[in-house]
Amino acid sequence: MKNFNVIPKAGKAKKIFAAAIVGVMALGLIGCGSTKENDMLDVIKKNGKLVVGLSADYKPYEFHAMIDGKDQVVGFDIDLAKAIAKDLGVELEIKEMEFDSLITALPADKIDLIISGMNPDEKRKKAVDFSDIYYVSQHGILVRAEDKDKYKTVADLAGKKVGAQLGSTQEALAKEKIENADMHLLANVNDLILELKAGKVEALIIEAPVAEMAIKSNPELALAEQRFTDETGGNAVGIKKNSPKLVAEINKTIKTLMDDGSMSKFITDAIKLTDKEVKE
Ligand code: ARG
Repeated sequence: MKNFNVIPKAGKAKKIFAAAIVGVMALGLIGCGSTKENDMLDVIKKNGKLVVGLSADYKPYEFHAMIDGKDQVVGFDIDLAKAIAKDLGVELEIKEMEFDSLITALPADKIDLIISGMNPDEKRKKAVDFSDIYYVSQHGILVRAEDKDKYKTVADLAGKKVGAQLGSTQEALAKEKIENADMHLLANVNDLILELKAGKVEALIIEAPVAEMAIKSNPELALAEQRFTDETGGNAVGIKKNSPKLVAEINKTIKTLMDDGSMSKFITDAIKLTDKEVKE
């Protein structure tokens, strides 16, 4: 009591200030605690369901096929999604959307993961986290077979009509590498392939495995000589930020699938299924 009385006013204010700081810090701690609890791993387990967003226009990654008389979304991304759901002990739901919408749908909680042949580029890393690379891919130039000698490299495409998927890394790649390209950006890769076949564009910048599958069902198309490797190195799973536990679980599944040969099997299985493709 005596002590209290001798504390000058300024000291009192300081004490209150210090108490406020302690309070703020405590709140901060509670905040951290709840962030930990809100790791998407816990949310997904609580929901008993994993919602994976993708754009099913990407043979052999994800596409529509007629399996047992039913139109289903299949591909190696789907097998990867199934394996992740199984390891998490939850059901899998596939949510189809335009590729361009995925990167905003994830932070908005419309989906739990992006598994859509997505490359972890720097711009996207600002919005979402990524798993380790599960598939190493390159990009190529898809042209009409008759133009194969005409369009060999990006230099041959200067000033030409070139297609790419809207919001894809190939859009950025085309804009960066092709001088004065007249870019045709469409939301759906199947529509881009139709544009190329119809002569509305001269070439598509596209993931090489997707180009190969397109050629398999459209022999009038061919890959030009030049390939590109980007700094992202390949495809990864997109995960909501601040969910380190979920990232670790997904990386564990990816590592197992890559080490035991399952991932390679998913790819060969997906390629086989491309014969059963259903075009929307
Ligand atoms: N890999 C490219 C990117 O990350 C294109 C992926 C497109 N995926 C799809 N399902 N259409 O931008």
